Amino acid sequence: MSSKLFSPYTIKKVTLKNRIVMAPMCMYSASNEDGKIGDWHRIHYATRAVGGVGLIVVEATAVLPEGRISYRDLGIWSDEHIAGLKEITDLIHQHGGKAAIQLAHAGRKAELNEDVFAPSALPFPGMKNPLEADENYIRRVVEAFSQAARRAKEAGFDIIELHGAHGYLINQFLSPLANRRQDAYGGTADNRYRLLGEIIDAVKTEWDGPIFVRVSANEYDENGNSLEQYIEYSRTLKTQGVDLIDCSSGAVVPAKIDIYPGYQINLSERIRREAGIATGAVGLITSAVQAEEILGNERADLVFLGRELLRNPYWAFNAAKELGAEIDRPQQYGRA
Ligand code: FNR
Repeated sequence: MSSKLFSPYTIKKVTLKNRIVMAPMCMYSASNEDGKIGDWHRIHYATRAVGGVGLIVVEATAVLPEGRISYRDLGIWSDEHIAGLKEITDLIHQHGGKAAIQLAHAGRKAELNEDVFAPSALPFPGMKNPLEADENYIRRVVEAFSQAARRAKEAGFDIIELHGAHGYLINQFLSPLANRRQDAYGGTADNRYRLLGEIIDAVKTEWDGPIFVRVSANEYDENGNSLEQYIEYSRTLKTQGVDLIDCSSGAVVPAKIDIYPGYQINLSERIRREAGIATGAVGLITSAVQAEEILGNERADLVFLGRELLRNPYWAFNAAKELGAEIDRPQQYGRA
C-alpha cells in the first residue's frame, strides 16, 4: 500500500515532503513584550521539523501590536522581527520541513490594556468594549498585512496563512454576529468579505507564494454565517488566488461545541468538493490510519495536527511505521 500521508504535495513552487502539517498554535512565549523569537520557539519548531513534519505553521503572529491576543504573542509588525523569524525558517529548512506563518490580528479578542478595535463597538461576551474601526484604521490593517507579507518573505517563509477564523478580526468582519456596520464593510455577505478581499490583494503585492486562509466554517449560531456561506466565500477566495482553505470552526461567539475525533472534517470535505479548492482538515486528528482515511477519501489535501504534535513531536515516525512508508529520518536516529 502506498501511503497518501507520506506522498509529496506541491503548491505553486513549494513541495511538501508529506501531508502532515503542524497546526498554528500560540505559545504566548515571545522573548519579551516585543513579540520576538526566543529559545522556546527555536526548540519548539525545530523539534517538529526533526520529527518529520512536512509543513510547520508558525503560530498566530500579530501584524500590529494592538492585534496581539496577549503581550507575549509573536509579532511581525516591524522589520526588527525579521531576523528572529529567519532563524526559525532556517532551522525548519535545515531539517527538511517547509515553513508557513499565520498572520493575525485579534480585533476585539485582544486581551490588552490599550484600545482594541473591531468592526463594531460590540464586545466578545465577557471581554472589553472595542472601538469601531474607522476607514483609517481599516487602511492601517490592510497595509499592516501587506508589510507583514513582505517581512515573511524576507524571513524565508514558504507559505502565508491568513487567520480568518476563531473570532479574530478578519472573522469578526466576515460574521454578522460581530459585524453590524452599515458602510461598505458590513451588511451584505460581499461587504463583510471586503476586508479579507482587500487584505489578500494587498498581500499579493508583496508575496507571490502560496496563500492559505483559515476559516471558522461553522459559527455554531443560527444568526452566524452558515457552511453554505463559507462554501461561497471559498469560491471567492479561489478566484482571488488563494491556494488552500484551512477548515476550522467556532470561537466567534461563545458556544457549546460537540467534540469527537475528526469533528471538523465534514467542513473540509464539503468546501473541497463544492468550492473546488484544496483544503486542510484539522481537529482531533490523532492517528495515522485516520489521517490516511481523510486523504485517501479526498476529504482534504493536507491534515493539520495540533495537540497531538504537542504531545509527540515524533508522531510522523510512528505514523510511517504504521503505514509501512519509507521516509528519511535524521541519520543520527538510524532506522529508529
Ligand atoms: C491553538 N489553535 C490555534 N489556531 C489558530 O488558528 N491559531 C493559533 O495561534 C492557535 N493557537 C492555539 C494554541 C494552542 C495551545 C492550541 C491547543 C490550539 C487551534 C489549533 O490550531 C487547532 O485548530 C486545534 O487545536 C484543533 O486541532 P487538534 O489540537 O485537535 O489537532
